[in-house]
Amino acid sequence: MSSDLEELRRELDIVDVVSRFVPLERVGSNYRANCPFHPDRTPSFFVSPSKGIFKCFGCGVGGDAIKFYALYENLSYLEAARELARLYGKRFNLAGVKEEEKVRVALERVSDFYRESLLKNEEALEYLKARGVDGHTVKRFSVGYAPDSRKLAEFLKREGLLEEYLKTRNLVSLGSGNYRDLFLKRVVLPVRTPSGRTAGFSGRRLREDGSPKYVNSPESPYFKKSSLLFGLSETKDYAKEEGYALLVEGVFDVLKLFSAGVRNAAAPLGTALTEQQARVLAAYVKKVYLLFDGDEAGRKAVRRAVPLLLSAGLEVFVVRLPEGHDPDSFVTEYGVKALKGLISSAEELFSSLINGGRDSLEERIKLFREYLSYLPDDAKRIALAAEFQQKAKVPLETLLTPPKRRQASSSLPFKYKVLLKGLLSFRPKVRPEELELPKEVRELCYKALDGEEHELPEEVLEFNSPNLERMFYKVLEQLKKREFVREVEQ
Ligand code: UTP
Ligand code: MN
Repeated sequence: MSSDLEELRRELDIVDVVSRFVPLERVGSNYRANCPFHPDRTPSFFVSPSKGIFKCFGCGVGGDAIKFYALYENLSYLEAARELARLYGKRFNLAGVKEEEKVRVALERVSDFYRESLLKNEEALEYLKARGVDGHTVKRFSVGYAPDSRKLAEFLKREGLLEEYLKTRNLVSLGSGNYRDLFLKRVVLPVRTPSGRTAGFSGRRLREDGSPKYVNSPESPYFKKSSLLFGLSETKDYAKEEGYALLVEGVFDVLKLFSAGVRNAAAPLGTALTEQQARVLAAYVKKVYLLFDGDEAGRKAVRRAVPLLLSAGLEVFVVRLPEGHDPDSFVTEYGVKALKGLISSAEELFSSLINGGRDSLEERIKLFREYLSYLPDDAKRIALAAEFQQKAKVPLETLLTPPKRRQASSSLPFKYKVLLKGLLSFRPKVRPEELELPKEVRELCYKALDGEEHELPEEVLEFNSPNLERMFYKVLEQLKKREFVREVEQ
């Protein structure tokens, strides 16, 4: 069942709504005008009837028909919805708008609030400039600034969305009408779902002040870090067009590359790549280039990410950046041309293992056997093994068998590793208290469900299997069944 608000959004004709106030000129399947929200001499305001949205490339403002009406008539979003419904004779019951829907509206409005606040903050604007993030990128990503917790709370009150927004835990009530914004005094980047909905934020401090460099929205039904990729919403169309995506480690790498004209990068939010993120990527591209830091941590991250990408059916290219560089610092030092050169000369993962390179033959065989086991396509696996056999003179059998996984440091039983990694990766609706588990493992389950990756043992994070999903649900069944049986016996 769809909510009233969703239905209203679908039924409203944005071209009709906007042209009540602004004369629109048709360009192809879209419309354009001089932007009514900032002094605009060139028409930089666009309306897309197929997407039901407007966007100004001059000042960055954008949204749906209701948002347009709210801005133009200076109403809150929900008031605007009510008025538009009346205007167009649509059924709409404000009291019937679901809580969840209101939280989503609140997230969009807060993003607008931050975006507008940035324009008034010289220090934040300077910071972005110093980091090589250009104005176009700022607008495209709706980069913002969090000025003042009280101002944000007042803004939300006016919108009638304060209570709802507190559900995201991005803003915390301190009692006696005081609030604390998690992103206070930070440059704020909206983190969006691929379809463009604001799920939460990532905030970077402007200078070293003892606080964490980045703060991300807390895990919630609105912000599921393990399936979100920063930048994908803004770059997916470019990635589709290019036929590949770049996977980078940092959110500012995405912004810097975008500014430098490399518009197909995305990044996880400071955690190792997850299975869902790999699958999300695979919905848009067939090829992924890994641009991780050239240091030991970066190499480890590659080792961890590759199996997930291969399992998702992606072709993988590893770009080696010089030690100590991320894409941002590399472009600053050597220029974007040099980066493009590295990308275009990168060899596909398996052919680089087959044809040689920096690693010894022994090392390449080891990696080849491991990675090959993650390829979902049997025929391709055999063809690649045959190709390597010719070069390496190693029996086909050996190449087709994955090496024994390291068990040395293992202290958690296999099934708990499956369970924890599964909880972390799939976030199913599971209540750990309903599973038969040792206490320590149950504690870890809560951490996994909260996405608190750093609290989990390395052996869980490193655990990967092409069959993880199937094994996970099997383990889950086993652990549940016992509990169930016992309850019946009682
Ligand atoms: P890095 O520490 O590699 O930083 O974190 P970076 O991306 O190069 O940051 P800049 O260039 O100094 O701005 C990589 C990613 O890890 C997450 C962020 O998403 C960051 O982009 N991170 C980092 C956090 O979530 N919290 C932190 O305190 C630090
Ligand atoms: Mn960086």
